[in-house]
Amino acid sequence: MTPKRIIIDTDPGIDDALAILLALASPEVQVDGLTIVHGNCSADQGTVNALSVLELAQAAHVPVAKGCSLPLVQPSLLAPETHGKTGIGYAQLPPPKARPAAQHAVDFLIERILAAPGEITLVPIGPLTNLAMAIRREPRIVEAVKEVVIMGGAIRHEGNTTPLAEFNTYVDPHAAHIVYHSGMPITLVPLDVTYQCILSDADVARLLEQKSPVAQFIADATRFYMEFHDEYQQIDGCIINDPLALALVFAPQLVDTETLYVDVDISGGASMGKTFADFYRMEDKAPNMKVALGVRPRDFIELFLERMEQLCQHISN
Ligand code: BDR
Ligand code: CA
Repeated sequence: MTPKRIIIDTDPGIDDALAILLALASPEVQVDGLTIVHGNCSADQGTVNALSVLELAQAAHVPVAKGCSLPLVQPSLLAPETHGKTGIGYAQLPPPKARPAAQHAVDFLIERILAAPGEITLVPIGPLTNLAMAIRREPRIVEAVKEVVIMGGAIRHEGNTTPLAEFNTYVDPHAAHIVYHSGMPITLVPLDVTYQCILSDADVARLLEQKSPVAQFIADATRFYMEFHDEYQQIDGCIINDPLALALVFAPQLVDTETLYVDVDISGGASMGKTFADFYRMEDKAPNMKVALGVRPRDFIELFLERMEQLCQHISN
């Protein structure tokens, strides 16, 4: 089977780093590049983190292109309380040897998508600023992209950044608005499903049996993330949002989806950044995406752990 070609648009980020590792560990996908956006940390820091994580996984050949440092309209909002000052929790990785690509992430996305019409799957797992900019700059990418699997939104679920809004959509709701209404073939992976996917202490202990720098990185990064979940949300373990979106590129059977019309509030009030679906077709608008609303969480966590074990074994050999 030919692997699916993907580009991950990311703000790494603890769970972003785990999604990158999952992609590198999965033969069903080929990572054509990482494009970096502001979000969990600055775009500068995220670029360093992406390069370091690639080097940790012996995948320095994957190009990294730095993108937008600020949302389209809203002021900057980073998340050091969730991901730590450097974005990777308590993990400390050596400074990367590789440099980012000279090209801006928006140009990288456009060039790569247009060069291979119908072949590139995008996996945006941060605020959607880069992708919205790319759509505005080169609308032909809408037809040329194969699929877009987005981690973001909270449909029936409460928000994790405001009472109503999820982080990636709240940080750049205008960008989400552009992407949602672009006509791209989107699958949305909202908190409704990711909040059922909890990585536990026992799961991390299982990985640590591998005695690998990759396992140690996962343990050090997620320890910080678990402390955040405990303190702010009384959750035992940590939610690994972004790896679920990544897994759906090759394991769509992990979730149940509905095809729906989904929008995001950009009116600036209490529900700014809130995503909502027209379940009863009250507005007579055509569905614009598939939305994951049911998930088999333990199947996903098992898949994630198995892939991480394989990656650890591959790296240490
Ligand atoms: C999303 O926000 C970030 O904190 C995570 O990396 C994930 O992409 C979850 O709301
Ligand atoms: Ca993210």
